[in-house]
Amino acid sequence: MTAKLISGIEIAKEIREELTAEVAELKEKYNIVPGLVTILVGEDPASQSYVAAKNKTAHALGIHSEQVTLDPDTSEEDLLALVDKYNKDPKINGILVQLPLPKHINEANILYAIDPDKDVDGFHPVNVGKMVLGEKCFLPCTPHGILEMLTRSGVETSGAEVVIIGRSNIVGKPIANLMLQKRDGGNATITLCHTRTKDMAAHCRRADIIIAAVGVPKMVTADMVKEGAAIIDVGVNRIGKASNGKAILAGDVDFDAVKEIASCITPVPGGVGPMTITMLMKNTVQAAKMAANLI
Ligand code: GUN
Repeated sequence: MTAKLISGIEIAKEIREELTAEVAELKEKYNIVPGLVTILVGEDPASQSYVAAKNKTAHALGIHSEQVTLDPDTSEEDLLALVDKYNKDPKINGILVQLPLPKHINEANILYAIDPDKDVDGFHPVNVGKMVLGEKCFLPCTPHGILEMLTRSGVETSGAEVVIIGRSNIVGKPIANLMLQKRDGGNATITLCHTRTKDMAAHCRRADIIIAAVGVPKMVTADMVKEGAAIIDVGVNRIGKASNGKAILAGDVDFDAVKEIASCITPVPGGVGPMTITMLMKNTVQAAKMAANLI
């Protein structure tokens, strides 16, 4: 079997078209322009490219976006002051502080300082708590994007055995939570594997859906995959540099071998990545509507 490709580029395009129409309607009917600020501390090339892509997408959709880049030695105090400034800025509905932060800054202190109503990453404990309880909140972008990819490409999650590899706060833990809820893309039976899991391969071989979010290139091999399983690859691993200087990327899944066994699979690049950015835009529009009491 050669798997169907689940294209994040195509699905993201579909959602962006919906958002473009929604942003235009907000402007026309209510004179509202959703606003996003991205804050990057330091010069990490991967973070720089993620932040640039977020701002470019915001512009393309008609969202007002501001990009702040700070010196790597910016103090925690100065960063907190900046977050506070944007918490109070009515033009800004969403605040995104790009992670990871330099070691001298306590990440939790910064994330907890963001107004939960502007927390378009869905990382604030208020939003995490609401998400776990199934209440309306900002869903974290990568897990939300994965749900959209599964539902929009017709992968049945209800009753499915889902194996998630990786227990991060950004992907593993929230996607596990969302997929066990009574909701679209949910009602699944979840196994969450991590570095201490015994016999990861045995768990994976039982899975109808595997979600790999570990950061180890090509860790999920063909012998770990059941015939016909759906594969979501969240990994973005830089495994070298091409002659033109561009990074060569590999996912957490051995794509070439696994595509012969799976029923559908996300590529890297062009899979989960574009969805994460798109869901950030969706959250920014949601934040603007919330601020105007429209939802
Ligand atoms: N770094 C890697 N992924 C993310 C993300 O989704 N949001 C933020 N703020 N930083 C990240």
